[in-house]
Amino acid sequence: MIRELLEEDLLEVVRLEKELFGDHWDHDDFKKELDSDLSHMYVLTIDGKIVGYIAITILYERVEITDLAVAKDKQRQGYAKLLLDHVTKVAKDQGCEVMSLEVKVTNIPALRLYEGYDFIVMRKRERYYKDGTDAYEMARGI
Ligand SMILES: CC(C)(COP(=O)(O)OP(=O)(O)OC[C@H]1O[C@@H](n2cnc3c(N)ncnc32)[C@H](O)[C@@H]1OP(=O)(O)O)[C@@H](O)C(=O)NCCC(=O)NCCS
Repeated sequence: MIRELLEEDLLEVVRLEKELFGDHWDHDDFKKELDSDLSHMYVLTIDGKIVGYIAITILYERVEITDLAVAKDKQRQGYAKLLLDHVTKVAKDQGCEVMSLEVKVTNIPALRLYEGYDFIVMRKRERYYKDGTDAYEMARGI
């Protein structure tokens, strides 16, 4: 089941975020997104347990995926694709035409996922991440 991310989910989502990324968003970052009118966040649950989540920002005709993760023991079961399908529908319903994201050039699982979802690399951003890694900016039409 996919539903909106609620404030009471933050403890578990922040725990997963730390486990899956190390240094991406902390509690305050998620709280800011929760409080923003432009952001929408969703969790995917199985038997009530959060196994994945996705965050988007919608600005006019453009939607940006700002976070996406699936718990380690639930990966390669199609859950990231389900989360992408969900936000694609949300964005389409809001009249968006373009979906974009940034991904570390070294993140092979994510790159394969997005390529398989018809995203294409628009450009490379040098040293985009805090740790100095480059990013690919990717986009697709909706
Ligand atoms: C990237 C991530 C979200 C993928 O989640 P997932 O639920 O395992 O992805 P799915 O099962 O929906 O996979 C869909 C497709 O993506 C590709 N893919 C996913 N994981 C892959 C891997 N480890 N290696 C190669 N391709 C992979 C495959 O093409 C896969 O289709 P297939 O299983 O039929 O071959 C997950 O690995 C994750 O949470 N990683 C840590 C956080 C992260 O990097 N998030 C993305 C930030 S931009």
